[in-house]
Amino acid sequence: MAQLWGGRFTKETDQQVYDFNASVSFDKRLFPEDIEGSKAHVEMLAKCGIISPEEKDSIIRGLDGIFTDVNDGKLEITSEYEDIHSFVEANLIDRIGEAGKKMHTGRSRNDQVALDMRLYTRKNILCMKDEIVTLLTELLRVIEDNTMTFMPGFTHLQKAQPVTLAHHFAAYFEMFRRDYGRLCDIYERMNYCPLGAGALAGTTYPLDRDFVAKKLGFYGPTANSMDSVSDRDYLIEYLSALSVIMMHLSRFCEEIIIWNSNEYRFVNIDDAFATGSSIMPQKKNPDIAELTRGKCGRVYGSLMSLLTTMKGLPLAYNKDMQEDKEVSFDAMDTVSNCVILFTKMISTMTFNNENMKKSAAKGFTNATDAADYLVSKGVPFRDAHGIIGQIVIYCDTNSKSIEDCSLDELRSVSGYFDKDIYDFISLERCVEKRLTKGGPAPAVMDEYIRDSRKWLDSLKKVRR
Ligand code: ARG
Repeated sequence: MAQLWGGRFTKETDQQVYDFNASVSFDKRLFPEDIEGSKAHVEMLAKCGIISPEEKDSIIRGLDGIFTDVNDGKLEITSEYEDIHSFVEANLIDRIGEAGKKMHTGRSRNDQVALDMRLYTRKNILCMKDEIVTLLTELLRVIEDNTMTFMPGFTHLQKAQPVTLAHHFAAYFEMFRRDYGRLCDIYERMNYCPLGAGALAGTTYPLDRDFVAKKLGFYGPTANSMDSVSDRDYLIEYLSALSVIMMHLSRFCEEIIIWNSNEYRFVNIDDAFATGSSIMPQKKNPDIAELTRGKCGRVYGSLMSLLTTMKGLPLAYNKDMQEDKEVSFDAMDTVSNCVILFTKMISTMTFNNENMKKSAAKGFTNATDAADYLVSKGVPFRDAHGIIGQIVIYCDTNSKSIEDCSLDELRSVSGYFDKDIYDFISLERCVEKRLTKGGPAPAVMDEYIRDSRKWLDSLKKVRR
């Protein structure tokens, strides 16, 4: 047991208590951030005259040595240490002696862990932004290629009106674009440095918090020391944004599963992204999509877990907060995996344009347009709706579509029909005429693609 706090205790910690309390098995992930934060801290201590320049140099050398040795596999982070902070400090003192004991001057593990977790999360948000941009890029490629690929649009999972594959994918493009925006917002709010808050009440040393914040790439130091060590809302916000990303992925996966089914056959998932059955030789299952849909629950679970952990905590630090890590790490890993694999699945998937078109042409997807035709001839919309309703009943009993009816058949229901009805309700016209902003008409989509491409390219230019 390597503990930093033996002084006031007269007994060894019970082994089970030690194990229950320890966090090194999962916070070892924060090792690079712990080193980075400690280096900035000691540089500041030297700058403020709290430790000597020689002591600072020795500590920095020691920390660099520990970093290299762990990365080279020469030094192992073991359960002998309570947490990652203890591991680094104990090894530093082992290596450089007395100067090592000064590293923790003016610092508590409370502000230290708050810093480490923020550094880690900040990095993760940037990676997530990149992964979302890659997904958006892939979606835009599909959109660009498919402005004339007709498919049925659904409401209540019933065929409603025809759209295009480009338009359908653009709906998801918009969702993930908002997800990207959420990540940017969270970054803006969370990029402040908690180091210098001490245990909860700041310190009596003349620390330069602005220096540390700048050194670590933060916008500045946090404004209240008690809040600094107690705040986990940035994580809750991030878990919430990750949950929304998963919700979007899960809906998309659900559609892909439906489109890939034997009944629909709108898409073919690439063999490399599907799995087989141990008993049924014909099977090719969309497991990646199903797993992504399934893992959504797990990410929501992380969000609920941390919200619940935090809800009753008095200020300032409480050990309950150690529970922020496993759930957050799990959510970050899960979402990253899902976004990357989903993107690959989309980029290798092929579309059965003919099947989509055939499906779009059936199921009365042009019934609204047939009513609109009558409106163009002067019939009020409510009456037109009723007339087409009667025609749908007639078609249903005679197993035909509206466009299969002869002019005489149509005229027997309403005298307003003329031979231009057939062109008016053709699949192409139905889509082409939907010219409202945000609609599926290829002309509208072309403009949408231009704007989206411009936005996406502007992001890539500012990317690190
Ligand atoms: N492992 C702890 C955590 O993750 C580090 C902070 C410990 N602070 C304390 N006062 N015991 O929250």
